[in-house]
Amino acid sequence: MPLHRKDLLGIEDLSVEEINLILDTAETFRDINSRRIKKVPTLRGKTVINLFFEASTRTRTSFEIAGKRLSADTINISASTSSVVKGETLIDTAQNLEAMAPDAIVIRHSSSGAPHQIAKYVNSAVINAGDGAHEHPTQALLDALTIRHNKGKFAGLKVAIIGDVLHSRVARSNAYLLSKLGAHVSFAGPNTLLPHGFEKQFANAEGSVRFAANVNEAIADADVVMMLRIQMERQAGGFFPSLKEYSIHYGLNLKRLSLAKPDAIVLHPGPINRGVEIESDVVDGPYSVILDQVANGVAVRMAVLYLLAGGE
Ligand code: CP
Repeated sequence: MPLHRKDLLGIEDLSVEEINLILDTAETFRDINSRRIKKVPTLRGKTVINLFFEASTRTRTSFEIAGKRLSADTINISASTSSVVKGETLIDTAQNLEAMAPDAIVIRHSSSGAPHQIAKYVNSAVINAGDGAHEHPTQALLDALTIRHNKGKFAGLKVAIIGDVLHSRVARSNAYLLSKLGAHVSFAGPNTLLPHGFEKQFANAEGSVRFAANVNEAIADADVVMMLRIQMERQAGGFFPSLKEYSIHYGLNLKRLSLAKPDAIVLHPGPINRGVEIESDVVDGPYSVILDQVANGVAVRMAVLYLLAGGE
């Protein structure tokens, strides 16, 4: 079954069938990533532009590796080295890139909805690599692939997502994806960083989304614990008294993790603030699948590029 859409802008409007198609396709690309020669001719002759207006290590690198492993020509553009610094608008930038006939444009932008705007002006596939506090669809897909590998299912799983939910596009995309697939998501964090009312959007989902009374309640009996990064760059409002207090009340340490199921897994999208939202002995310990998430990111982005850029 092909993916009948031009763009991947978010998880909100993806069907369960589309999500499963991307995950199943990513599964086949995981095998390629463990071969000695990690390259297939699938996107030979195609061009992928990575247009990043915000910093990134994992997403940009894995989109570039994904494109290269599929034999696409990949070009990276940072806002700081583009004509954006001379005042060129987002739409002008996109239309000028479109004039060079790429097959896909991957965009990260600090403004929610920026990829959606670009998608209206270009014929190339547009892939959202994170827009403001809105969505980060390929992150949620790689998280889902990691959970599926470890748990074998989504229906009935208890997933705790802890921390700065308010600013987190990762939390939003995961809430859509995991509840569509039948998981029960419990959010927790400082009250100032929880967008109350958000959970009402999921009333018709197969699974559920709720705000737990506190972090310990969210983590109790969880199958999956996902910690969110405290987004220092978006914390101008003084949402909590100090990082030390944040760590004590909301951070994940081994004692708090012992409330979860004995076979629980710990995820974090990165970059990690060690000693703030998560302690090093959890990051580097046996429950952590954080680097598996990064590895799965390449497979998921290969799948998305293949499905949207017309791979054969
Ligand atoms: N998880 C994630 O989006 O990481 P980067 O900001 O490094 O891309």
